[in-house]
Amino acid sequence: MKYQNFYNKSIEDPKEFWELQANKIDWFKAPKTILSKDQYNYNQWFKDGELNLSYLCIDKHINEGFGEQNAIIYDSPVTNTKQHITFNNLHHEVSKLAGGLQQLGLQKGDTCIIYMPMIPQALYAMLACARIGVIHSVVFGGFAPHELAIRIDDCKPKVIITASNGIEIERIIPYKPFVDEAIVKATYKPKHVIVFERQLIVEIPMKNYDVDYTSLVERSPAIEAVPMESTHPSYILYTSGTTGTPKGIIRDTGGYATALKFSMKYIYGVNEGETFWAASDVGWVVGHSFITYGPLLNRNTTILFEGKPIRTPDASTFWRVISEHKVKAMFTAPTAIRAIKKEDPTGEMVKGYDLSCLKYQFLAGERCDVATLNWAEEKLKVPVIDHWWQTESGWPMLANMVGVDLQKIKPGSAGLPVCGYEIQILNEEGEEVASSVEGYVAVKLPLPPGTLSNLWNNPERFRLGYLERFPGYYFTGDGGYVDEDGYVFITGRVDDIINVAGHRLSTAEMEEVVAAHKSVAECAVFGVHCEIKGQKPLGLVVLKHDEVSEEQTIQKEIIKDVRKEIGAVASFRDVLIVNRLPKTRSGKILRKLLRNIADEMNYNIPSTIDDPSIIKEIIMVYKANQIGIHKN
Ligand code: COA
Ligand code: AMP
Repeated sequence: MKYQNFYNKSIEDPKEFWELQANKIDWFKAPKTILSKDQYNYNQWFKDGELNLSYLCIDKHINEGFGEQNAIIYDSPVTNTKQHITFNNLHHEVSKLAGGLQQLGLQKGDTCIIYMPMIPQALYAMLACARIGVIHSVVFGGFAPHELAIRIDDCKPKVIITASNGIEIERIIPYKPFVDEAIVKATYKPKHVIVFERQLIVEIPMKNYDVDYTSLVERSPAIEAVPMESTHPSYILYTSGTTGTPKGIIRDTGGYATALKFSMKYIYGVNEGETFWAASDVGWVVGHSFITYGPLLNRNTTILFEGKPIRTPDASTFWRVISEHKVKAMFTAPTAIRAIKKEDPTGEMVKGYDLSCLKYQFLAGERCDVATLNWAEEKLKVPVIDHWWQTESGWPMLANMVGVDLQKIKPGSAGLPVCGYEIQILNEEGEEVASSVEGYVAVKLPLPPGTLSNLWNNPERFRLGYLERFPGYYFTGDGGYVDEDGYVFITGRVDDIINVAGHRLSTAEMEEVVAAHKSVAECAVFGVHCEIKGQKPLGLVVLKHDEVSEEQTIQKEIIKDVRKEIGAVASFRDVLIVNRLPKTRSGKILRKLLRNIADEMNYNIPSTIDDPSIIKEIIMVYKANQIGIHKN
């Protein structure tokens, strides 16, 4: 079997395997040291190599005669716009914006936050930063000013690049006013805010720190890509952890470029010149790896889609985009398929389009239920491939590597280990468990190139969170098991992280906001099953004993607080008032028990519970409020 041999080679001799892959990208200085250790005794790749991501994504292709190939197709049903951007166009925009950043005083090693909707300027901004070694941190637009402020204080950007506004279904997102609000909230103050103006609906007050994006690009010189060390951080991407403070995942340059080039070919099975579409957002890791850097590195045309799977204008949008732009492989989250399936259960809308260009449909971001996978397979008539990874890994850890050879698809499994990832299922003691036994999903060190190199400002949290739990392994935070054929089944997070519509969120963070409400004595926030979004957060709240306000008013206020502090993306809409919360005798709230009861999972009431009679009360509240599966 081709896959098995290829995979085995990557595990038996990682240095040889990845050196060969690294040779497939253009280095300014080819690496001699393939794998080494950093100051924290953690793996680093291609230490003495030099390269530039922006060069590899743009200039290289122009130099090879592909300047007139489409690099990006911007398709925006929300603004009724389609724009074809060639590598020559991309070069013009990116090299001049990089010149503009330099003129504003940005240098290699400085940081820059990008808070933008899904418009070409977001990609230009990322590539312009990479061109001069400025470390970007893209923040998802669904996060509120408070979340943005936390990130500003952590990564201290000299500049924030934003747009006047974004467009959601029936709603304008005021990006620039959100940035202004975040700057007021943050302790650290950026020097400039570069604003790209689009379809201004509301008047936006200008500030002294504002710089107009368009005129900055117009007046700035185009500059060349600067060689970067392989270990230079290309970006910081914040992701939810188990505490209220997000973690800044650091990505290197050389390992990342090698891994992405490898992924496009061997995992997604796309060749240079073909069209690839990841329907996600630049604010997530998918947007970094497979809207921006991966496809462009591989000289694919990447689709930049500003819309939703439904209601922009309807559930046929995805099929229209695939057919119109000749997409060979597409990637989305199962939640998007569920949303489409709900609107068009029989798949009538699929029939309206010629999808013969589509060879593979990839799904990731959350657990893919078998019904969704089967529906997509039946309607699209192509292999539908669930694959598993996370912000930390930066590229898939489990998949069906179609570019090597298509393996049997087992619905419910996220597939087989991808080259470089020695995945093992461990028990509490860190011992490998037998096949089909559930445990903690861990990856044996060293991790392959392209995975996280550390946490920004917090190497201690990196060590404790990922490396200390099982010495010699990277701990993924997921639970799962391996079957007798080596297929891995991911069963879900083993911590307080939830996945809402493919968006990773921390319930601990939501709990902090709920607990801060003046009427709340104590609370618990956890994820429960949601038919469309996979999971949704639920808050249980015990009020202060002297509370006199209307319960409904309190509930509304709490929901508003979470939206204001964390953002609309939290989808926090359910708060229940209860008399007490189940706890252990030592006072720990039994969140997992609360979740399992809501989802009608098998649950054991722990012997350490303080008062078992609370469980009946909770079940009654769930039923009365039609929570989770207790709808009937
Ligand atoms: N900027 C501002 N607000 C945003 C946003 C953005 N980029 N993205 C989402 N939001 C807002 C939405 O407007 C919504 O606000 P509302 O409460 O006022 O309606 C809220 O955040 C929740 O968004 P979402 O969870 O996306 O729900 P939805 O009902 O708007 O759409 C789906 C549901 C399933 C169609 C949508 O979630 C989807 O397409 N998911 C695919 C997920 C995906 O691509 N994940 C990336 C990982 S692969
Ligand atoms: P993120 O860092 O936002 O990409 O989220 C990563 C988390 O999403 C993982 O740790 C998993 O819990 C979950 N996840 C991603 N893809 C899958 C998948 N294919 N199957 C199950 N869970 C997934």
